[in-house]
Amino acid sequence: MTEKLSITPASGRLGVLTPGLGAVATTFIAGVIAARKGLAVPIGSVSQMAHIRLGRREEGRNPLIRDFVPLAGLDDLVFGGWDPISSNVLEAARTCGVLDEKDIAPVSSELEGIVAMDAVFDNQWVKKLDGKRVKNLDSKWDQAQALMEDIEKFRADNECDRLVMIWCGSTEAFQEASAVHETVDSFEAGLKSNDENIAPSQIYAYAAIMSGVPFANGAPNLALDIPCMVELAKSRGVPVAGKDFKTGQTLMKTLLAPGLKARMLGLRGWFSTNILGNRDGEVLDDPDNFKTKEVSKLGVLDTILQPDSYPDLYGDIDHVVRINYYPPRGDNKEGWDNIDIFGWLGYPMQIKVDFLCRDSILAAPIVLDLALFLDLAARADQSGVQEWLSFYLKAPQASTDAGPEHDIFIQQTKLKNTLREWMGEEPVTHSEAG
Ligand SMILES: NC(=O)c1ccc[n+]([C@@H]2O[C@H](COP(=O)([O-])OP(=O)(O)OC[C@H]3O[C@@H](n4cnc5c(N)ncnc54)[C@H](O)[C@@H]3O)[C@@H](O)[C@H]2O)c1
Repeated sequence: MTEKLSITPASGRLGVLTPGLGAVATTFIAGVIAARKGLAVPIGSVSQMAHIRLGRREEGRNPLIRDFVPLAGLDDLVFGGWDPISSNVLEAARTCGVLDEKDIAPVSSELEGIVAMDAVFDNQWVKKLDGKRVKNLDSKWDQAQALMEDIEKFRADNECDRLVMIWCGSTEAFQEASAVHETVDSFEAGLKSNDENIAPSQIYAYAAIMSGVPFANGAPNLALDIPCMVELAKSRGVPVAGKDFKTGQTLMKTLLAPGLKARMLGLRGWFSTNILGNRDGEVLDDPDNFKTKEVSKLGVLDTILQPDSYPDLYGDIDHVVRINYYPPRGDNKEGWDNIDIFGWLGYPMQIKVDFLCRDSILAAPIVLDLALFLDLAARADQSGVQEWLSFYLKAPQASTDAGPEHDIFIQQTKLKNTLREWMGEEPVTHSEAG
């Protein structure tokens, strides 16, 4: 038997803070409130809907994850966030146009009560947006302090026992890590000297970790995957997870690619293109912001297919990803994939996928699960990068030099085995049940 971890009970209220109250965050909040009123089932949420098999199959032990591990209950969640444009969650949910009025109306008073805090926002990082509700502070150090004050005020006002923060803000312009990101000391010096390489999402991450608040990054920009944040998370004992919610086309890719590889079918090329018309699409219409997303999306195939081990099958792949901003489509994205595969004697075949998906409908349950699992990790005294949450992320941050794992089925096993081990159950290495 593995030894059960000592996990502090999930008593009291858990505050979920999101920098960014746009399509994803508001869909998440509205859905949780609807679920706890009994108006909806939290479809897509592994923490709420999935079972976990324990022991050997013949033992027949297969509880719901939420009955097996001590997670915060939906009734105990309180919501807050920052946004430079949205004034409150009701207004934002209506503007985003993800949910129909029939689903917003029954929860409208709760949504209206969640008022956006003024954001730490810099137009230089998101050129397409013109922020209005922004903290009027020039120094990045002062901005970080102001966010920490917001966090403590929210904690006190809402009588929260614990908090988590999930970045649901716009994708920031592409950047590589630089000297200022090396250590906590260099980062703090950079905050004080207003180093131009420090992006707003990094200031939120810093403020969260300094406040002992677990942080996940739902977007592809650099916020956590820089040495200073890894160092800070470890030294403050805070669990973190990045980056970029795995939804839509990349979700499909990580479902299909492991299947092709399992059958040793070759791949010659994978062309992916999307049209979407929400604010995210508008932001990604700027080449600097799209570059951030492109890098995050392109990493997936190589790690799943291992071209070094399988040069005959995967040594020569053309992988292209495009996103086109097309306003009439709103949040209802359409993603096309053309996949050129080959089989016995090298004969070519094609697979076409046309996924009419709803991005925020796929992302909302991920926000819920990341919030609940990060809170669990904190109560289990875990700190630093939580690789077992890679399941939810397009560009998972690795905690060792072995690099990230992208195969969703390996990720699922890792997630469930982590829960089993923490609870003193043996890991399961085959026949994942439900
Ligand atoms: N929807 C998905 O399936 C999905 C998948 C992966 C990643 N993402 C990422 O999640 C993020 C949110 O997506 P969305 O569809 O809700 O986008 P959205 O444009 O509807 O919402 C983003 C919100 O963030 C706000 N914002 C921008 N900069 C901010 C700052 N510095 N502080 C606080 N708020 C800020 C914007 O005003 C906007 O309201 C995006 O970065 C997107 O790329 C979304």
